[in-house]
Amino acid sequence: MESLFAVCAPGLEPIVAGELQDLGLKTESAPRFGAGGVRFEASYQGMQRANLLLRCADRVLVRLGEFRATAFSELEKRAGLLPWEKHLAPGRPVAFKVASWRSRLYHENAVALRLPGAIARRLGQPPAAAGGGEAPVEALAQLIVISLEDDHCTVSVDTSGELLHRRGYRLATAKAPLRETLACAILKASGWDAASPLLDPFCGSGTIPIEAALLARRMLPGAARRFAFMDWPGFDRAAWAKLMAENSTVPAVVPRIMASDRDAGAVRAARENAERAGVAGLIEFSCRAVSAIAPPPAPGWIVSNPPYGVRLRGQNDLRNLYAQLGKVLRSKCAGWQAALLCGDKRLLAGAGLGFETRLSTLNGGLKVSLECGTIPPESKIATYRMERPGLGPRPPSA
Ligand SMILES: C[S@@+](CC[C@H](N)C(=O)[O-])C[C@H]1O[C@@H](n2cnc3c(N)ncnc32)[C@H](O)[C@@H]1O
Repeated sequence: MESLFAVCAPGLEPIVAGELQDLGLKTESAPRFGAGGVRFEASYQGMQRANLLLRCADRVLVRLGEFRATAFSELEKRAGLLPWEKHLAPGRPVAFKVASWRSRLYHENAVALRLPGAIARRLGQPPAAAGGGEAPVEALAQLIVISLEDDHCTVSVDTSGELLHRRGYRLATAKAPLRETLACAILKASGWDAASPLLDPFCGSGTIPIEAALLARRMLPGAARRFAFMDWPGFDRAAWAKLMAENSTVPAVVPRIMASDRDAGAVRAARENAERAGVAGLIEFSCRAVSAIAPPPAPGWIVSNPPYGVRLRGQNDLRNLYAQLGKVLRSKCAGWQAALLCGDKRLLAGAGLGFETRLSTLNGGLKVSLECGTIPPESKIATYRMERPGLGPRPPSA
């Protein structure tokens, strides 16, 4: 068994822990909220399955070793005893990511500079340095992650390569696209059952409806990409092909998935992305403003990421947009469930929907929350307003 860590955005730990448990993998008993990941144990094959099937994690690290180090000589000596040959072919380029807290070895760059020597001691030759280029460094080199905390050094090897949100389908983007991993996390947190209709009226480049279709169809999120472990010395291509086949699509009935945006360029990008993801035929795209949505009568889910804050537009426009959004949802989607990812709760309060926070995380460095609830009918809100002019909705009586 290997000791692994599924890295994720802070706040998504319970969702990632749930995904790991669904794969039958043993996780730490209570993942710490905000820890940025979840510890778990798995065999080499379990690690491969985690990379192939996790939808909400950013990367998977495997622990190579840990030891105490208070001086560079100690660091080099101990690191030189680690079994690097498991993960590094001689001469393979490496890149280091070092973080140090409350440790005598506090100079992170200096720590990184000592490690090639330690690897050379074990492998007989130093690793190549990661070359430059436009691709992220972990696509070109094996990433090694070192953390020093209170002089305790943990050395981990990245098993994923490029971040897992890079599923390979999203080449075309519109304004402020969500990471695929966050889009999938909000779908899971919304409680969508993957059987009821789903509508994203601010679809942008289509990340939410595409992830919804991949989920409902149970398509492998990592089927079209490479992983770092594929460059490890022991990688068995035939065993990997077998693993892919064993975990491949189980045909599932896909509900209506509707996606719209008022920007024709965004809808075009969303369609192209859906085609690359192999789900274009499962999503009904249309170019329309939110005021013109036409949801089916049956109850369903609105899962969306409306524009907010500094990433898009001015505040006055946004206040009007949210007031309009509330009105449209109450008049056309009463009784539907809604989950709206927003960076400004005051804006959402202006929609008058009375939702509750179900998830808090970061999106592009900004704090965001997922506000969820059942969409109330128009008449209920109108009554509250008449009874309490200027005071907003009356809280439900006890
Ligand atoms: C934050 S982006 C959505 C990003 C999307 N989740 C993605 O991953 O690409 C918000 C989107 O809302 C759209 N939008 C803004 N005002 C709108 C309106 N009144 N009706 C419909 N769409 C609107 C914008 O064109 C933009 O694509």
